[in-house]
Amino acid sequence: MTALLLEDISFCHPGGGCLFHHLKLAIGAERVGFIGPNGSGKTTLFHIIMGLLKPDSGRILLDGRQVNDVRAWRQLRRQVGFLFQDADDQLFSPTVLEDVTFGPLNMGDDGPTAKAKAMATLESLDLAGFAGRITHQLSGGEKKLVALATILVMAPEILLLDEPTNNLDMATRERLVAILADLNLPMVIISHDFDFLAKSTDIIYSLDHGHLHRSESSHLHSHPHAHIYGDHPHAHGGY
Ligand SMILES: Nc1ncnc2c1ncn2[C@@H]1O[C@H](COP(=O)(O)OP(=O)(O)OP(=O)(O)O)[C@@H](O)[C@H]1O
Ligand SMILES: [Mg+2]
Repeated sequence: MTALLLEDISFCHPGGGCLFHHLKLAIGAERVGFIGPNGSGKTTLFHIIMGLLKPDSGRILLDGRQVNDVRAWRQLRRQVGFLFQDADDQLFSPTVLEDVTFGPLNMGDDGPTAKAKAMATLESLDLAGFAGRITHQLSGGEKKLVALATILVMAPEILLLDEPTNNLDMATRERLVAILADLNLPMVIISHDFDFLAKSTDIIYSLDHGHLHRSESSHLHSHPHAHIYGDHPHAHGGY
């Protein structure tokens, strides 16, 4: 089933370059990975899906209905959980618990219910110990995981994750792979980490000059490599 459909999307920055030309994408049961050079428009595409930027042409359909008025956009934002590329764009409350409680409170939950949902979500991400921490004092990787908690607590039906492994160490990245595998949700993941995408998604598209190209699994390859962890124990990706 196609949950989200992008049809004929074109987008140019006013006075700047054009990023997409009649782009089409169906987001359904399969998990989709996006890879592509810096500046190719990956984040911009997520912003278009969330209604933060307006395409020059094209339309977005959610569950078969065109998203074209305030009510439909509100509904889309309720159903689609969007992890920003920069966690600082997502986190704004003094403490972690307040940040994760904000969404449920905003959706009308009473205080104790919102708090219980927030704690359960933090626990599911192994973050319960962070509840009382000052958000802006967290490390980059901790912020990224807390930002994920602020989305998952809202029980989204579709996930858009913009570079979720940024700032994560290898062990935490593997934990994220397991967390995402446990979620039974359609998702689109932007990442420069091909190994992570290969583990977490079913199809990988590369975005290049405004077009999505399906990356065939036969292109996967392995090669000898040096890595920065020296003789410390570490996980290998397996690709
Ligand atoms: N307001 C703007 N006016 C003109 N160009 C812009 C504007 N905002 C962003 N851009 C450009 O749009 C392009 C796409 O940006 P975007 O953030 O979508 O790239 P990205 O694929 O997510 O890159 P990265 O991998 O670095 O996150 C970039 O070249 C960026 O400089
Ligand atoms: Mg980006």
